[in-house]
Amino acid sequence: MFENPDAFDITRYNASKQIAFGAGGPHFCLGANLARMEIRVVLQKLLAAFPDLHATGRPDALLSQFVHGVKSLPCTVR
Ligand code: HEM
Repeated sequence: MFENPDAFDITRYNASKQIAFGAGGPHFCLGANLARMEIRVVLQKLLAAFPDLHATGRPDALLSQFVHGVKSLPCTVR
């Protein structure tokens, strides 16, 4: 589905084809819209508070058979 799938790239032309909340079947995540709003608000507030926030290293990946994630990501703020 995605070229270079291990890269975090939300600007891909087909980024909306991700299936983090399910693939559209009968058990598609009931909280998808709430989760999207929470994520949007968190990132808006974070970037408003720290406009110069940027990563200075690679993310430490959470290795799990249940959920993929990032344990930590070194950043600088002013
Ligand atoms: C980033 C956050 C979240 C992710 C990545 C996520 C992901 C998922 C996934 C992959 C499924 C299974 C989809 C399927 O089998 O087709 C699911 C189901 C579900 N999610 Fe979420 N979810 C998130 C947040 C939430 C929130 C905030 C709520 C509720 C407030 C929620 C409620 C549910 C429920 C009730 C189901 C079961 C739906 C069913 O079985 O019919 N989720 N979620």
